[in-house]
Amino acid sequence: MTSTLEARELVVVREGRRILDRASILVRSGEAVAIQGPSGSGKSTFARALATLLEPDGGAVLLGGRDARQIVPTQFRTRVAFLAQQPAMFEGSVVQNLKTGPALHGESLSDAQASDLIRAVGLDEPILQREARILSGGEKQRVALARALANAPEVLLLDEPTAALDPEAGERIVALLRELRLRGLSIVMVTHEDAHARALGGTLYRCERGRLAIDS
Ligand SMILES: Nc1ncnc2c1ncn2[C@@H]1O[C@H](COP(=O)(O)OP(=O)(O)OP(=O)(O)O)[C@@H](O)[C@H]1O
Ligand SMILES: [Mg+2]
Repeated sequence: MTSTLEARELVVVREGRRILDRASILVRSGEAVAIQGPSGSGKSTFARALATLLEPDGGAVLLGGRDARQIVPTQFRTRVAFLAQQPAMFEGSVVQNLKTGPALHGESLSDAQASDLIRAVGLDEPILQREARILSGGEKQRVALARALANAPEVLLLDEPTAALDPEAGERIVALLRELRLRGLSIVMVTHEDAHARALGGTLYRCERGRLAIDS
């Protein structure tokens, strides 16, 4: 199964304005891509459209060469995990949050695997028993990353995953993403941080007024 993810000339119009203006990207299996650009240039809209969380007014998203509209949404979301700028937690504890995805697929995440994931994102094990919805923004972002990884996706889409983190925690997340990429996961990361975009070690794209171009 190939997990090349492609956006082909995506157009999104809101209030008569083209928020995405034929935005295209090609993310090959195991490739890392960082997207930068000014506030309001369309990065989050693009990330959401690429995750098929919003219906574009033009263009298409393709996974493994297949139009995403022909792929069952739950299957698409298992293969392509999306992390929002402000992720929502499910009700219940952190460990329950981590176990939900695998359970939906008839699999179970062990307590040891949950501990490994939570440590990998730079959190301490006691957080597993805490109520997820009352965590801080930065803690939620890291739990959301661990929760996404619990589903073993092929592509990880992240919208500003380090924005709510202190520098040390942010660098740790970028280091983890780089490591995941070396293990074959494709990564698309929207970020404001130049250093993080570069540290990811992949292709750099620039988003300007709803268009994407490779930054050279
Ligand atoms: N549903 C909507 N209706 C109207 N305008 C919208 C809608 N969603 C987004 N926009 C507008 O589209 C533009 C792009 O928004 P988007 O959130 O994609 O920007 P961004 O590049 O992620 O910005 P930031 O760096 O601040 O997160 C903004 O001007 C925003 O106000
Ligand atoms: Mg944004």
